[in-house]
Amino acid sequence: MEVIICDTQEAVADRVANYIKYLINKKENATLGLATGSTPIKLYKKLIELYNNNEVTFKKTTTFNLDEYYNIDGDNIQSYRYFMNKYLFNKIDIDIDKSKAHFPICLEGENPNLIGDLYEKKIINAGGIDLQILGLGSNGHIGFNEPSSSFMSKTRIKTLTQKTIDDNSRLFNKNEYQPNMAMTMGISTILNAKYIILIATGENKSDAVNRLISGAISSKNPASILQNHKNVIVILDEDASSKVNNIDYYLNAAKENKKLQEQFGYFHELK
Ligand code: GLP
Repeated sequence: MEVIICDTQEAVADRVANYIKYLINKKENATLGLATGSTPIKLYKKLIELYNNNEVTFKKTTTFNLDEYYNIDGDNIQSYRYFMNKYLFNKIDIDIDKSKAHFPICLEGENPNLIGDLYEKKIINAGGIDLQILGLGSNGHIGFNEPSSSFMSKTRIKTLTQKTIDDNSRLFNKNEYQPNMAMTMGISTILNAKYIILIATGENKSDAVNRLISGAISSKNPASILQNHKNVIVILDEDASSKVNNIDYYLNAAKENKKLQEQFGYFHELK
């Protein structure tokens, strides 16, 4: 696991956007796994800038979003499909083929098991995910894989914990319906990505970040399993990194890695 600490949230967004640019310029038909939440908004803004400067094109990119609320269709302003349109897809839509942007949408009456299986098949048919972007829940969730999620899990429906419902309630108006279930890629789906970049910013993520990097690997803390993936980069701002043990080591390693990556490139497993 590589840990990169940036001065500000803007610097985090910049760094991750440049990784994505590098990846797509290396593999034009790359498959990206995308995340929602407040954390990646600045990243998407930066990608739009790069797109507008003709530094990157998404013409041949396929995307899979991590998760979607259960029984919320794509036009609902609370849907993650709506979020992605608003913060990214609509701004680059002259270029992006929306039929290549996938979400695990499951409406009432539809069988979540079948939709989960179909999502997995679509990912496989696309050649697997080259780079998965992740945020981090304050309870250690990734996607909507709540504590107790099996490390073997695939895309499926999950009931959300009260902690996650409370954390996300800031995004809903008082009388607005807030779902308590969601479809989410499983932990095993996420671990199958060739590369993973997890972004965390803000002091409120510092405990979860510390547990992710050096806590015991346990289904009580789903993000901890990322310790076992061979190509994970955790990119933090200073606030989110404030409780990381052994921080000097990571700062030093990041410097050394940067030199090597500038010389030999990134994403060497991608052809
Ligand atoms: C949400 C999403 C996650 C996201 C996390 C953190 O519930 N399902 O994919 O990473 O919570 O969100 P935020 O970035 O708003 O803190």
